[in-house]
Amino acid sequence: MTEAKRLAGERAIDYVEDGMIVGVGTGSTVAFFIDALARIKDRIRGTVSSSEQSTRRLQMHGIEVLDLNSTGPLSLYVDGADECDPHKRLIKGGGAALTREKIIAEASDKFVCIIDPAKRVDVLGRFPLPIEVVPMARSLVARQIVAKTGGQPVWRDGVVTDNGNVVLDVHNLSITDPVGVETALNQIPGVVSVGLFARRPADVVIVGGEPPLVF
Ligand code: 5RP
Repeated sequence: MTEAKRLAGERAIDYVEDGMIVGVGTGSTVAFFIDALARIKDRIRGTVSSSEQSTRRLQMHGIEVLDLNSTGPLSLYVDGADECDPHKRLIKGGGAALTREKIIAEASDKFVCIIDPAKRVDVLGRFPLPIEVVPMARSLVARQIVAKTGGQPVWRDGVVTDNGNVVLDVHNLSITDPVGVETALNQIPGVVSVGLFARRPADVVIVGGEPPLVF
């Protein structure tokens, strides 16, 4: 799968235009995109990063990282996913960066999602759904998740997000109404972000392969 991730990450460079400020996601697939972006770094104005992890890699390459508050809307966001359905709706947050990823996706005109073939599913939910939660609300949110979805929330013990919060991974879901589930879970006090990207899905999905599949 590493090779598929590399092929997807490098193909996403086709969407980068001169003078752009590029939104950059998080994860091992995005790492290949960042490495490819480094080769054309003089053609872009900079990046907005979704995590401390990606910021470190961007800066290691000498790529400028800007504050979203000063850039305004972005033309392009490139990020990976943990699952992708045929409608380009996603589960994200395996790397615990879902909140900043969701913010940048919302701020971007075009969201290009880069995945390996194993991420493709017909129905979302086999990958446990990550939910970022304010620490004091962890048990409250877990109880409400069970009541609303029937899924089994598991605390990702030892993980603190870049925003100082915790993550619950919800197992045993079959998400036939991703927009409805995203909306319902967003209503629970203490939920910071739901790792469903259904209300704002990807615009383009690149599945790594020889050649990559684009839909
Ligand atoms: C991080 C994410 C990642 O995009 C997702 O976990 C995929 O990671 P990888 O490219 O390493 O398989 O959502 O929060």
